[in-house]
Order: sequence, then C-alpha cells, then structure tokens
Amino acid sequence: MTEFSIRPMGDADIATAAALYGRCFGEDWAVQSLRDLMRTPGCWGLIAYAPDPVGFLLARIVVGEGEILSIGVDPDRRREAFGKTLMEAAIVLSQQSADAMFLEVGTDNPAADALYRGLGFRQVGLRKDYYRRPGGRRADARILRLDLTKDL
Ligand SMILES: CC(C)(COP(=O)(O)OP(=O)(O)OC[C@H]1O[C@@H](n2cnc3c(N)ncnc32)[C@H](O)[C@@H]1OP(=O)(O)O)[C@@H](O)C(=O)NCCC(=O)NCCS
Repeated sequence: MTEFSIRPMGDADIATAAALYGRCFGEDWAVQSLRDLMRTPGCWGLIAYAPDPVGFLLARIVVGEGEILSIGVDPDRRREAFGKTLMEAAIVLSQQSADAMFLEVGTDNPAADALYRGLGFRQVGLRKDYYRRPGGRRADARILRLDLTKDL
C-alpha cells in the first residue's frame, strides 16, 4: 500500500504547492504570491504526499464561512481519491469554525463538479463569464455551498 499523508501547508511546502498548481492548471502561480496569500488572515492549506507530493488544497475561513480557494491533484495521480480525501479533511477542519463552506467551479469542469456534489455541495448561484480560459474563451462559475452544521 502506498504511504499516504495529508499535512497542513507550512512555509516549506509553498514552492511544492506552487509547482503542483502549475501541473494541475497549466499556468504558473508565483511562489512569493502564494506565500503572500497564505499569510493573509484566515488562509490555510493542506498538502498530500503519497509519498511524493500529489495534491494541494487552499482554503480560507472568514467570519464563520469557509471557502475553498483551490484544489489540485497531480494529473498522473487522479482518480485515486486524493482529491476527495483532501476535501474531506478540509471539511472536518472547517467545521470547527464555520457553519458553511463555499467554492466556485467552472461549468466546463465536470470532474471537479462531480467531486464536490458527491460530498454534498449544492449550487446556490452562477457567475457568468467568471473564468477566462486559454484562447480567450470564457466559462461560467457555479457557486456551490455545503452546510457544515449537519453530519456529513
Ligand atoms: C478535480 C480534481 C481535484 C479531482 O481529484 P481526484 O483526486 O482525481 O479525485 P478523486 O479521485 O478523489 O475523485 C472523487 C470523485 O470525484 C469525481 N471525479 C473525479 N474525477 C472525475 C472525472 N474525471 N470525471 C468524473 N468524475 C470525476 C468522482 O465522483 C470521484 O469518485 P469515484 O472515483 O469514486 O468515481 C482533479 O481532477 C484536478 O486536480 N483537476 C484539475 C484542477 C481542478 O479542476 N481543480 C478544481 C477547480 S474548481
């Protein structure tokens, strides 16, 4: 069985998370910019190793509301439940200080949409043309919400 761990993202993990982000989304996230984000109040992250870095999750809690800012799993390690495990860990951690969790997902991202809906997230809004995709195409964002006050 593959050795697997999820850890809180510390300063030493920022460069690893930025590299994973690049592999997951096909665009760079400057290490310093990610470090600055992680230093803003309420921001936190998780990183998964199996045993190499396989996934990351960035989140925020502001006045009783949780938000998933980003999640990605290495393209070579998808469908091994790393994404679901990262999300479940984030949900449990957020339940300690938030009543609900929100996130945005592109209407052109069925994989992520299925992951979130399988965890109980439901659509509460739509942002038209929210994402700019390669080639100038735009995609709408669904706003999904999970009630954290119920047993999941
Ligand atoms: C979305 C993402 C994080 C999922 O990570 P993952 O580790 O592959 O997902 P899991 O193996 O935990 O899958 C959990 C469930 O999500 C759904 N799912 C995941 N990938 C899917 C796919 N390609 N197609 C359909 N459903 C999918 C399934 O319901 C799956 O359960 P199952 O494997 O029992 O069928 C990953 O595809 C990714 O990094 N995508 C690129 C970055 C991204 O889009 N991030 C989200 C932005 S909102």
